[in-house]
Amino acid sequence: MDRYAVIGNPIAHSKSPQIHAAFARQTGQALSYEALLAPVDGFARAVADFRAAGGRGMNVTVPFKLEAFALADRHTPRAQMAGAVNTLAFDADGILGDNTDGAGLVRDLVANLGCALGGRRILLLGAGGATRGVLLPLLGGEPASLTIANRTVSKAQALAALFAPHAGRAQVDGCGFDQLGGHRFDLVINATAASLAGELPPLPADLYAEGALAYDMMYGRDPTPFMRAALADGAARVADGLGMLVEQAAESFALWRGVRPDTAAVLADLRRQIDAG
Ligand code: ATR
Repeated sequence: MDRYAVIGNPIAHSKSPQIHAAFARQTGQALSYEALLAPVDGFARAVADFRAAGGRGMNVTVPFKLEAFALADRHTPRAQMAGAVNTLAFDADGILGDNTDGAGLVRDLVANLGCALGGRRILLLGAGGATRGVLLPLLGGEPASLTIANRTVSKAQALAALFAPHAGRAQVDGCGFDQLGGHRFDLVINATAASLAGELPPLPADLYAEGALAYDMMYGRDPTPFMRAALADGAARVADGLGMLVEQAAESFALWRGVRPDTAAVLADLRRQIDAG
């Protein structure tokens, strides 16, 4: 049986084994998928051991996505631009590194939430790895503009400069939160780590255009602080990142197995489970 795994530290609460087991059942693919805890200083060794034991591919999560990028022999263009890898595929030519986070986000937005990107004004909050991982796929949706706002302004500006050549007709800017006043957006995505600390980026209240969607990459049983604030500030709809989690997994599964699972039932099951606590 072909073996796959998600590797991270910590890893105990990862939902990836459950998601991929459901995909395998649904598509009739014979494979196993496990969770691997690697020591913080033992990522490369753990990958080599898994590969030597017959592993075919891995998902990579915190804190190893940059190391996974360095370890891969070749990269997909979206992984190359992201500078980080969440999916490894092992074959006779070595290790291919991909990044399916952005494609997963875009699919959740467009297919699950019905939020078209073409011609829209998008605001991305944060300028760390989470933002970098989704920029190229978001720009592929041909928005009118993509603004990156971050606490450390220079990081937002650097990312904007890096991605501007790949933006097509979209205008790409980097700024601080205090420069957002007077601007309105159709889609606001929280990619900061602020929610982890129960905090919120300081945002002006008139940020949301009519019909705007506020999307948090985090998820949980209750709406995140960002989602609650967005509703209070006039966002028409809010969503958390559970759909992105399932869709990035589907994208990895498709890369490995050449077949795309249907995500709707898997996402609904996971949501029920989380709601039940
Ligand atoms: P990740 O890989 O999850 O993106 P990261 O690279 O450490 O993690 O980036 C975290 C992001 O969250 C950064 O944009 C960070 O802002 P700075 O670049 O100014 O550090 C942002 N962030 C973290 N805590 C925050 C907070 N309390 N308020 C606003 N932004 C925060």
